[in-house]
Amino acid sequence: MAHSDDSPAIPSNDLEPLVLGIETSCDDTACALVARGGRVLSSVVSSQLAAHRPYGGVVPEIASREHLANWQAVSRRALEEAGVELSAVDAVAATRGPGLVGSLLVGLSLGKALAYGLGKPFLGVHHLEGHLYSPFLETDGTPAETPPEHFVGLVVSGGHTSLYDVRGSAVTTLAETRDDAMGEVFDKVGKRVGLPYPQGPLVDRLAELGDRRRAEVLPIASTKESLDFSYSGLKTAALLAIEALERTDADTAYRPEQDPPFEPPVLDLLAAFRYAAVEQILRRLRRLHRRRPIPLLAVSGGAAANRLLRRQLETWAAEEKISLRLVPLTYAGDNAAMIAHAAAQRLARGETDDPLDSEAASRLVLG
Ligand code: KG4
Ligand code: ZN
Repeated sequence: MAHSDDSPAIPSNDLEPLVLGIETSCDDTACALVARGGRVLSSVVSSQLAAHRPYGGVVPEIASREHLANWQAVSRRALEEAGVELSAVDAVAATRGPGLVGSLLVGLSLGKALAYGLGKPFLGVHHLEGHLYSPFLETDGTPAETPPEHFVGLVVSGGHTSLYDVRGSAVTTLAETRDDAMGEVFDKVGKRVGLPYPQGPLVDRLAELGDRRRAEVLPIASTKESLDFSYSGLKTAALLAIEALERTDADTAYRPEQDPPFEPPVLDLLAAFRYAAVEQILRRLRRLHRRRPIPLLAVSGGAAANRLLRRQLETWAAEEKISLRLVPLTYAGDNAAMIAHAAAQRLARGETDDPLDSEAASRLVLG
């Protein structure tokens, strides 16, 4: 279980509204307490890695069961770390979609029941709305930065690669992936070379050791004039390149006991793959910025932890004098602090949801 640092006790009136957030859209069971001003008092994430690893990816049925088994410990720990009683909570928020419907149902039902039991408002939050505002969260228990009236959000995760135009509470989708998401493709390419789940962070780390110029050039999808993303072509090209490498004399075996666990040809190929994946994002952003200048770019999602992506974005944003908010690594992957934070902003606008009307949805449009 990951958790935030202990923060000093705060007088309870300073906390209001205190939002308890729940996130169970995929394979992480998460609970967080976020106080006035978007101060994260605690953010506990219990990973289910060990349960899914034997299968090489997330097994939905196992994920739902694990959420049920983990919830009590996770929520207790979140309250303890925040130093608050459940009775101090002013609103309960849970992710209602998109995600695995069985997993969502667990968190959503718990959230509704808690809100009902406490007699407090309930909010069903769109998972991507959580990610979208997460770059403004602080990791030291201080208030979140107030997002500017207008910004562009880039969400890169296992399920999404999307660009959003955010003006106040109005969110417009500028671009989405037409097929696979960036994180998903990192996972699949990593799996093909034998890496254990979750492969994305490992592919990123190993790509750091390779030299893309020594490997085959992999395609960067163009999607013509559109800002949309496409990763299936890159995925196929990378898988074929691995296959081609295996047909040569090169040693392509994964040897976890060695450091690094691959010989250079595989590392070079992973570097070429990562470069093409990240460069596609940079190209879309350059195109968007030429059309209408980006005032501030907020980058979030699990794959926003990607080292090359972060470096390239930092360089480009500095050159173009664009304000850049890269999500803190603690809040890049799925977490409940981002869900409570998104809910707190809706609460401040006087919005709540009817628990009877808030249903889990595996697919859910944002905006
Ligand atoms: O946001 P997230 O925790 O869950 C979803 O909503 O999908 O993102 C998880 C995804 C996984 O596909 C994971 O492999 C990928 O993000 N990921 C990365 C990196 N760290 C996590 N992909 C590329 N580079 C990374 N450093
Ligand atoms: Zn996510």
